[in-house]
Amino acid sequence: MKSTKNKLFISFLLICSFISCNQKKEQELNPSNAIPSAAAIVEQIVNQPEYHIDLLDLKTKKKLGNDTIVTVINDPVYHKTKKYNTVNALTLIANEIDLSKIDAKSTKIVFECIDGYKPEMPLTLFLASKPYLAFKDLDAKGTDWEPISKNGNKMDAAPFYLVYTNAPAENDHYKWPYNLIKIHLEPIDKSKTALYPKDPLMVAGYTLFQNQCITCHAINGIGGEMGPELNYPKSVTEYWVETELVNYIVNPASYRNKVKMPTLGITKQQSQEIVGYLKYMAKNKKKN
Ligand code: HEC
Repeated sequence: MKSTKNKLFISFLLICSFISCNQKKEQELNPSNAIPSAAAIVEQIVNQPEYHIDLLDLKTKKKLGNDTIVTVINDPVYHKTKKYNTVNALTLIANEIDLSKIDAKSTKIVFECIDGYKPEMPLTLFLASKPYLAFKDLDAKGTDWEPISKNGNKMDAAPFYLVYTNAPAENDHYKWPYNLIKIHLEPIDKSKTALYPKDPLMVAGYTLFQNQCITCHAINGIGGEMGPELNYPKSVTEYWVETELVNYIVNPASYRNKVKMPTLGITKQQSQEIVGYLKYMAKNKKKN
């Protein structure tokens, strides 16, 4: 199934390059001939190969793989050494997706959590590590999970928590999502292709948005879903007073009681850059 898709994809590219050669000839003969650009078609197709794994679905079908008990020293979520019942995450992914067909360097792995939080990391880093999908916390007594304290709230890690046996807890390139439900493989520059500004003055704001906001917020439908979409159909810059918006992004808790958006430690100046970029994107709305 996957390999058929891949073959199709390659044939598509071949067809496109063929079209584009012919098109050039035709355009040379008749420059006014307005054939849709092959580059546009190729871009659309190149953006297509994405893979999705629904972990709850695999669980129902009993296709998660064999149980393995792992010990995680200095677990960054529980802040202590922990023991879990897990399945090997690399084996699980390799069973679902033919990794030999994927160019890992140009792919990222995106984790989707119950609340719409979507952290991501380069696929190469993930493949070189020892990731396990924990489904039961063996230190918990009488329940499946020891509670996690977050902003004064108690929660658990169900249904899945991604852990590593060899990743340094302080290296924040490794993502340790809990309440994990889906795994996606996507082109590494997916959001860059869609959201990179043409105006060079907006690049700083764009970069801050990519690094600080996109795990929780989407622009034009691209990004996390824990917080609201910020651009489409109405941009936040169209219904917030600009100075208030800048201050909110610096310190959300000073605006809303029990706010879920964290204070990220960004400066007012950086917040202003982000708002500048959001205003720019308000003029570039698109439904994705
Ligand atoms: C951990 C997730 C998370 C991150 C990271 C995050 N936000 Fe939020 N944000 C939220 C949530 C959740 C809300 C909804 C309000 C709340 O906090 O309860 C929100 C609300 C907002 C709102 C208000 C939207 C509205 O319609 O009133 C704005 C604007 C906003 N965020 C901008 C940002 C920007 C800019 C960044 C990056 C600098 C950012 N957020 C980073 C989770 C996040």
